[in-house]
Parts: sequence; C-alpha cells; structure tokens
Amino acid sequence: MTKRIAILISGRGSNMIALADAIQNGTIPNTEIALVISDQPDAKGLAVADQRGIKTLVIPRRGRKREEHDREIVSVLRAERVDLICLAGYMRVLSPYFVDAFKNRILNIHPSLLPLFPGLDAQRQALEHGAEKSGCTVHYVDNTLDGGPIIAQRTVPVLPGDTVETLSARILAQEHILYPEAVALVLKHG
Ligand code: GAR
Repeated sequence: MTKRIAILISGRGSNMIALADAIQNGTIPNTEIALVISDQPDAKGLAVADQRGIKTLVIPRRGRKREEHDREIVSVLRAERVDLICLAGYMRVLSPYFVDAFKNRILNIHPSLLPLFPGLDAQRQALEHGAEKSGCTVHYVDNTLDGGPIIAQRTVPVLPGDTVETLSARILAQEHILYPEAVALVLKHG
C-alpha cells in the first residue's frame, strides 16, 4: 500500500522539496505526500508546495500553548491517515502529547552531527567550538531536544574562513541527500 507522509515546515522548505523530488523519482518508493503543514502563515515553502500541487495547511500558533496547538495538528494528521511525519525546518518543539500520539513515527533533520550541537543555531555552535567537521543528522523524535535515536548522518568539513552561511550551505546540500535516504530506509523497514 502507498505510504502517506506529512511534512511539517516553518520556513524555506528546501528539505520538503528534496523529499517531494525523491518521491517523484522513486528514491522513496510507494509513497505520497498527504500534506504539508506550516505553523507560520508566511513560510516560503508553502507557495512552493502549492505550485507542485501538494496540499498545504497553515496551523498557526496563535499564541496558544504548545499542547493545544499540537492537538489540532494531531487531529489533522489522524484524519489524513498519515504513516510518517517528517519535520523539515519545523522550528517548534513538539509536546509529549504529539510525540506520544505518533510514537516512533516522527523524524527530524538537524544541521549537526548529533549528539553534538542540539538546539538552535547548530552551525554557529560548530564554528564557535572550532569543530573540524560537522554535518547533518536524521533522527527519531522523542521527548528530548534533538536527542532521539539516530537513523543516519552525513559529514562535511569545516573549512578555513567558513561563515555560518557557507557552512550552512555545505551542510544543506548533504541534508537534501540524507533525508530522502533516511525516509526510504525507515519506510522500507517499518
Ligand atoms: C535545515 O538546515 C534544517 O536542518 C534546520 O533548518 C533548516 C531548514 O531548511 N532545522 C533545524 O535547525 C531544526 N532544529 P529548509 O526549510 O530549507 O528545509
């Protein structure tokens, strides 16, 4: 049966597009994107998804408490019969309610070699610590911050003269390869 994934974004959505491309070219087989959800009404990725004919939905925070917001998202995901949820630049920490509702069915991509540099500004953290390499990680989401079981990683060098921008771009190129591979792996074995 065709698996249905939901992608949660807050911004640009380039990882979301990488996943959509991978579904289209068969890297992630027998899968469709049920919908893309953003917590930010002005997320750039929404228009891109829309242009590609992908269903989009904005579920704004509206100053609500985390769990209240998440309850609305979970009810949509259930109604859409989603098998897997991919966080792709989704910049809100999930409540335990959300994590428990989809136990072991939520993935996240993070721009560092976890467990190094969790949280915000991972690329800046790597530079400030003088790391010689960094990279990206796809992991299961649990109730820790970027601390769930690791599925796959890719490494990049940190080069002399790197800025947050140059390092982020080098990592992002690897994210676009890593996330589709990791999703394909999880769906194959799940
Ligand atoms: C990506 O670099 C992703 O790893 C990062 O945000 C960017 C989103 O880009 N996520 C986090 O930092 C999560 N803590 P995108 O919107 O173009 O996919």
